[in-house]
Amino acid sequence: MITALVDITEDFPILKRQINGHRLTYLDSAATSQKPQVVIDSIRRYYEISNANVLRSVHTLAEEATVAMEEAREKIAQFINASSPREVIFTRGTTESLNTIARAWGDKFLEAGDEIVLSPMEHHSNIIPWQQLAKRVGALLRYIDLNRDGTISVDAVRHLINDRTRIVTLSQVSNVLGTINPISQVAKLAHEVGAIMVVDGAQSVPHQPTDVQNSDIDFLAFSGHKMLGPTGIGVLWGKEALLEAADPVVFGGEMIAYVDREDATWAELPAKFEGGTPHIAGAIGLGAAVDYLNSLGMSRIEEHSRGLAEEAYRKLANISGVTVYGPAYPRTSVVAFNISGIHPHDVSQVLDAHGIAIRAGHHCAQPLMHWLDVGSTARASFYLYNSDRDIDVLVDAIEATKRYFKR
Ligand SMILES: Cc1ncc(COP(=O)(O)O)c(C=O)c1O
Repeated sequence: MITALVDITEDFPILKRQINGHRLTYLDSAATSQKPQVVIDSIRRYYEISNANVLRSVHTLAEEATVAMEEAREKIAQFINASSPREVIFTRGTTESLNTIARAWGDKFLEAGDEIVLSPMEHHSNIIPWQQLAKRVGALLRYIDLNRDGTISVDAVRHLINDRTRIVTLSQVSNVLGTINPISQVAKLAHEVGAIMVVDGAQSVPHQPTDVQNSDIDFLAFSGHKMLGPTGIGVLWGKEALLEAADPVVFGGEMIAYVDREDATWAELPAKFEGGTPHIAGAIGLGAAVDYLNSLGMSRIEEHSRGLAEEAYRKLANISGVTVYGPAYPRTSVVAFNISGIHPHDVSQVLDAHGIAIRAGHHCAQPLMHWLDVGSTARASFYLYNSDRDIDVLVDAIEATKRYFKR
């Protein structure tokens, strides 16, 4: 039996909702997670009590806002075991973080003929910035061959990496297949040829302990809204030396040391990469989310997310006419599937009538859809407020969907 890790109706007000006459069964956390009351309260408190711009003014409110934002940065640095809060850059989310790395580091250090290694299971956010970088500098994209079950073998990466490889970039967890990629081993291969290792942590940071030093990666991107925090805030973490070497990409207030009519110099990290007024409330809300996750324990969350994904795989794969994508084990947090002869959008619509929220579509992973030879899939995704009861509700609704379309 897999019970929810939290008292859902106490902590997550939205989960009390009825949808189409049913209790809401929220299975779309890979798109965005729900928010606990403590996160909602932290944002409200900031606007009610301490609202001011950060870093600029010397008055009590401005100091309170600055301290609250910098405390959030410190919590996040500890959460991922960064060696310093200076390495934690606030962005709008994973997409902006990955674009920033491609611009800030890629534009400066890549040349024509250099190679970027990535996989076909990447989210568009971890493909297009590299496509664009490759076009700007004349670099080449090299795609890793996936195993038949959608996993990545370290040998397949080894064959692709050579002395022209400058960047290796991978999602730590696939948002479609639920596969957990061998990030540390791939980072080691990248470093052997002097390449950097970029990790898309959008689906891993919310679900498992993260240790950027131990995994010896170079950059990590993740989104607050998938880990109980607000939308519009995310993180770019990078090794300090690499961030120091890279160029800023957003120019304006806050990110400068000195400006004259013709030129400017840059502020110290992290301000160098945070031009303009940041999402202060978002950062504070993300700090509260990190406190909440820590209070539950990331190892417990990891066990829970894996348990639910593996159980859902087993139960869905047993339904006749249902195809489930990716490995049975190990997997975490997401299960993508199709019901023979029924379009995923129709599946999603019928499930909604049962109060179940899933996602249907290409999941911003069209190259992976081509690899799977499908146009789209349905996807159920789980988080700490889900239990095996939700899987049973899903299974019953899938059976009902099949009956509905048979008529
Ligand atoms: C693996 C992965 N990478 C990147 C993203 C993009 O995240 P965001 O839209 O928060 O920037 C997502 C979002 O679904 C994702 O699942």
